[in-house]
Amino acid sequence: MASSPSSAAAPTPDPDPPGSFLLATCQPGAEEVLAVRLAAALPGSARGAWRRGVVSVRLPAAGELLDLDLLRGRVVFARALFRCFGQAHWKGEGERSAALRDRLPEARFDALHCVPRDVRGVAAADVASSPAAVAAAAALGAEFPHARLGPARPGEIVLDCVVDGPDRWWLGWHRATTPATFHPGGYHPRALPSQAVSRAWLKLDEAIATFGIDIAPGTRVCEWGAAPGGACQRLLEAGLEVVAVDPAPLDAVVALAPGFTQWRKRARDVALRDMRGFRWLLSDMNIDPTSTLEAVGRVATAPGSTLEGLVLTLKIPDWSRAAALDEWLAAVRSWGFAPEARQLSTGGREVCVVARRGTRPRAARRRGGRQRSIRGGPRRATRRADR
Ligand SMILES: C[S@@+](CC[C@H](N)C(=O)[O-])C[C@H]1O[C@@H](n2cnc3c(N)ncnc32)[C@H](O)[C@@H]1O
Repeated sequence: MASSPSSAAAPTPDPDPPGSFLLATCQPGAEEVLAVRLAAALPGSARGAWRRGVVSVRLPAAGELLDLDLLRGRVVFARALFRCFGQAHWKGEGERSAALRDRLPEARFDALHCVPRDVRGVAAADVASSPAAVAAAAALGAEFPHARLGPARPGEIVLDCVVDGPDRWWLGWHRATTPATFHPGGYHPRALPSQAVSRAWLKLDEAIATFGIDIAPGTRVCEWGAAPGGACQRLLEAGLEVVAVDPAPLDAVVALAPGFTQWRKRARDVALRDMRGFRWLLSDMNIDPTSTLEAVGRVATAPGSTLEGLVLTLKIPDWSRAAALDEWLAAVRSWGFAPEARQLSTGGREVCVVARRGTRPRAARRRGGRQRSIRGGPRRATRRADR
């Protein structure tokens, strides 16, 4: 096993062979939903290992090229998604190094990401520093002394390790491409600041980082379902002019902030003319997704609507409702917005949908509109697709 620092001139090559499995981690409880979406995106794949917080699939052709960015976008519920070499296990610590060598190909890795499989009770920002992750990172760090622990830089090859137990680790790799792939296990690395009035501050912070939401200071935005006010607080910190719509009161820290207004009413009671002038609409109402979408659709499709973007938290009251996700995204598309979705690492049983007006998602715009398929993605000299 070899490792060395990468350089801009010579990107680290994909490991060869690339691994005949895919492994995805998820919020505990989301395994079935995730497995169904993986199977739909990858016809011919077969269910592999299945544990709380982890789903793997065997690929029909071991060396097959896959576009993991596209796949991550389709499956929505994966926190980390990577090519997997399988599980290494050993009986005593003395056997560990040999077990790792058996499992891993000769390859160079730029960064190491270690996370425990079962993350119950661990805050997203603390997952990589949990005792199981630290122990695995120390052992793998000894095998790969040039690979850095912690966040990867764009284009780097990451060695992924999901700790199933002290003597069993799943091992695999991915190329760091988007913000969610830079951090161990796809977890948002920031913690909730002490001054935040609710966890929604952190959820919105993760959505901003994940989806590259960039709203110019001074822009007027509106949040439906805003109390007690963590998300509004994050928006105010970004220099935005914020109107909150919620029948419940907001925390005084937010309510008295300059640039902030609250309309104490329900979303459906807001007149369409009052929604004109807002560039972005956020919704975090604790109601069924169909009711959220009905309310948002009324405003997004209104003549003269000035909305350019949406950030919608769709609550999933029970996992069976997640089967409707593609219909929900189709509804957003039918309004002339391009939706992207992810179950955030700092959120609960819900999906974050970010949609920009226009019919092409952000990634397609960056590619000049070129259509991609998950299988057989293009390879370029400077950035080879994950294999
Ligand atoms: C999860 S909390 C929102 C947390 C909030 N985004 C924050 O940053 O702290 C859900 C909120 O949705 C509000 N809500 C529920 N139905 C609503 C509706 N029809 N219109 C507006 N707000 C609603 C509730 O009053 C509640 O305050």
